[in-house]
Formats: sequence, C-alpha cells, structure tokens
Amino acid sequence: MTAAPPPAGRAAVVCTIGAALPPRTVSNADLTARLDTTDDWIRSRTGIIRRHVAGADLSTTDLAVQAATQALADVEPTTVKALVVATTTPDRCCPATAPAVATRLGLTGIPAFDVAAGCTGFLYALATAAGLIAAGTARTALVVGADRLATLPAPGDRTTVPLFGDGAGAVVLRCGSADEAGVLGPVVLGSDGTGADLIRASRPGALHMDGADVFRHAIDRMSTASRQAATAVGWDLTDVDRLVPHQANSRITSFVARQLGIPDGHRLGNIAEVGNTGAASIPLLLAQAVADGRLGPGHRTLLTAFGAGLTWGAVALTWPDLSPTRLLKGAERDR
Ligand code: COA
Repeated sequence: MTAAPPPAGRAAVVCTIGAALPPRTVSNADLTARLDTTDDWIRSRTGIIRRHVAGADLSTTDLAVQAATQALADVEPTTVKALVVATTTPDRCCPATAPAVATRLGLTGIPAFDVAAGCTGFLYALATAAGLIAAGTARTALVVGADRLATLPAPGDRTTVPLFGDGAGAVVLRCGSADEAGVLGPVVLGSDGTGADLIRASRPGALHMDGADVFRHAIDRMSTASRQAATAVGWDLTDVDRLVPHQANSRITSFVARQLGIPDGHRLGNIAEVGNTGAASIPLLLAQAVADGRLGPGHRTLLTAFGAGLTWGAVALTWPDLSPTRLLKGAERDR
C-alpha cells in the first residue's frame, strides 16, 4: 500500500542520524567452537563474518537511547515532539519501550510508542512518524529502530544463531516542504499473515525460521516494494544512486539489486560486520554509510526491508546534507 502525499508544508524531512552497537563482537570462529558450522559456510551463505551481541547489562532501551542520543547531538532535544520506537525485542511485553526511552532523553510528556513489524519495523515507524507530522501532531519526531535479535534463536540452532546481531539506529524527522532534499517519498508498506509461521518466536530462545521460503519471499517483496517506492516519486530504477536494503543476507540483497537492475556498486551493505539487526538494520547502515562517505548529499536513495509477519516496505528519498549548520537551522525553524 502506498500512502497519499502529505498536506502542503507538512512533508517529513530526514535531518539527523545516529547509531549504536554493543561493544562485544562474536566472530564466526567463536561460533564454530560451539555450533556444528564453519566460517566458510556462514560467509558464503550469508555474507556475515561477525556480529555485535549485547550482554545482559545492555537492554534494547539502552541501545535505543544511545542511538537517539547520537541523532540528537546537533539538535536541541526539546524540539522533538514525538517518538516512535520500532522493535521486535522490547525489554518487557508491557509497557512499551518508547516512553522509557523518551524519559531518559529528557522528553517526558511527548507521545511515545512502539511499532512491531519485524525487520520492516523501521520503515513502519518512519511512515508512522511522517503521519504524525502530516497530521500536525508533531513538527519534529524521533524514530528509532532497536533490536536484540541475538536473544531470539535457541543457543544450539546452527541455522539461526549465525544470522542475528544486536544494535540500534535513529533518525530525526522534521516538518518541511515536498521539494526539499531529505523529504521522504510515500512509504510503501505491506503484510501477509499467511506467512506468519515462516519466522516466529513465542519467547526469546525459541525462534523458528523456514530459511529457504523466507529467502524467496524477501527477494520478491523487497523488489516489488522498491519498484513501487521509486515510481511513487517519479524515478526510474536507473535513477537510484544508493540501494539501502535490510541486511538479512548478502545473497538476498544482491538478488534484489539484480532484479531491479541496480548496479552492485550502488548497493550498500554492512552485514559482514553486524549481521541481521532487525529494525536497527537500515538506520544503522545509513549512519555508517554517511560516516564513511558511501552515502552523501544528493544521492537518490532507496530503502527497502522485509521481515516477520510477513511484512515489507520501501521508501525513496534524496539524501540530504546533514551538516550541523543545516540541522540547527532546521531545528530553530521548528520551535
Ligand atoms: N552451518 C552449516 N550448515 C548449515 C548451517 C550452518 N550454520 N545452517 C544450515 N545448514 C545446512 C542445513 O542443515 C542444510 O543441510 P541439509 O541439506 O543436510 O539439510 C544445508 O545447510 C542447506 O540449508 P538451507 O536452509 O537450504 O540453506 P540456505 O542456502 O537456504 O541458507 C539461510 C540458509 C538461513 C542462510 C538462508 O535461507 C537465509 O538467509 N534465509 C533468509 C533468512 C532471513 O533473512 N531471515 C530474516 C528475515 S528478515
């Protein structure tokens, strides 16, 4: 489904980004010591070399706060008037993660809630925050994707343990006009509950995944959603400078790029170093790509994700200039 365009002057514009990773890494070699697997199998079938895994002292809330703090570094935090946290691994079933994150950021009182849409959660949260801006509920909104997916597999399951890592990413959206760099195009979103059993977990340590079926659906859904999101902003796929796919498996993202006819050099990735970090995957990759120069102002950028649910989504935007001077001006305008 594609959203209608926002009212004039109430488009959602990306204006900052931040990310957080737990300090501890677990390499493929570490896994071979306790699982019937090999470094070569994991690298060749998934593209993953290591992942960051949080200890018991680092919660989903902690990771969300760290990423949000980085995103707010050049913005006066009190300009933020709403918070949406995407997560599949909240610290508790109830209450939601977002109110605690807001309070730790000094934002007690703003609307704050969680969105659960598997690894597509960040795109669902972006769409939700853009909707709050379009509705006039908030002029500036913080969107966080935070997950501890490494808690989900059964510890001895070689088919799922190697895939997942922990992390968080965050962006600030502000109210702007439709012709600005950084404005989100219509966010394409979808779901299919007939695939609900393909990735499921009744509790931490009890993940079940039908890998081959998920693999096929992920390629189909991300490719279709990407085409729709590009069309929604009037781009040909040949216009896309940067494809930023959810980091589920490097073979999946390579197939998606190939199906879309996007050159492999335009496909961003970080799965080798972080694995599948769920709702954190896209903002974490965006933050790292901005930091190392792979993503910069003017790049026509296509984000796409797929996850448990089944859920999927995509959105196109021209990457903005995130320099602090511009951010402060944006924040001031929002006061
Ligand atoms: N080490 C060694 N062998 C392994 C293994 C591991 N870590 N994991 C699975 N295998 C074995 C399987 O048991 C199977 O053995 P068999 O043929 O004797 O039964 C063989 O490898 C092939 O398994 P298969 O599941 O067909 O492999 P695959 O090429 O499809 O790769 C995944 C498995 C999980 C990597 C892949 O299907 C995948 O990435 N799926 C999508 C996962 C995903 O993205 N999930 C989150 C969505 S957001």
